[in-house]
Amino acid sequence: MPTKNAPSNDAPLITVICDNYTTRDDLEASWGFACLIALGDKNILFDTGSDGPVLRHNMEILDIDPGSIDLLMISHQHWDHVGGIYEISSARRDLPVYVPHSFSVHFQDDMKRYGANIIDIDRAHEILPGLFTTGEMQGLMPEQSALLRTDAGTIVMTGCAHPGIVRIVEAAKKILPEDEIALVMGGFHLLDDSDRKILEIIGQFKSLGVRYAAASHCSGEIARELFAREYKDHFIALGAGTAISRADLK
Ligand SMILES: [Fe+2]
Ligand SMILES: [Fe+2]
Repeated sequence: MPTKNAPSNDAPLITVICDNYTTRDDLEASWGFACLIALGDKNILFDTGSDGPVLRHNMEILDIDPGSIDLLMISHQHWDHVGGIYEISSARRDLPVYVPHSFSVHFQDDMKRYGANIIDIDRAHEILPGLFTTGEMQGLMPEQSALLRTDAGTIVMTGCAHPGIVRIVEAAKKILPEDEIALVMGGFHLLDDSDRKILEIIGQFKSLGVRYAAASHCSGEIARELFAREYKDHFIALGAGTAISRADLK
């Protein structure tokens, strides 16, 4: 049975480092996404934002040492998710970097010059005990999402959700069929969708049993407002500086 992540206290499971929004005046907001996943004694960085200096600044304020990152997972090869890669890969030699299968070979070669150990992700599987990839899913842009298995349920993290946010949640349910979906967070890519379409998606979230929603990054203002309205106190207004612990997912 795959492992569940169950820290003994309310230490953050996830800390958002870069986002279009920020929750603190001392952190910079910038278009893109990056978050830290704490999994036992391992630090996993999911995406790197659009801008290395912003990533470095926010990590410094949040007291996260780039050299403490054990594993880097990149959702997809868009500028606003790969911008800080070299900030991280230059801080630690042989850093395992999990990239979707379609990731540019030239980009991979460049990262190898910084000593990165590239791992090509094709299919869904458990990367570390309690941490899964959905595998590369096809869409306007191929993309992988991260699943963190906790005793409060599964947390689904998306970069931009180009394969479709509902498809990603459905994939998570297939990968971990016995688990509830505690939270779906990250970019939902609903910028160009109508209110009606967004409300339909929110209805699908509820049918799939998604307990908490945190539409951020490229989700769009309207999607943030509609998710906040429909999910009420189960909507998390995510931004740089947001820390999520098990206590937040009751
Ligand atoms: Fe994005
Ligand atoms: Fe994207």
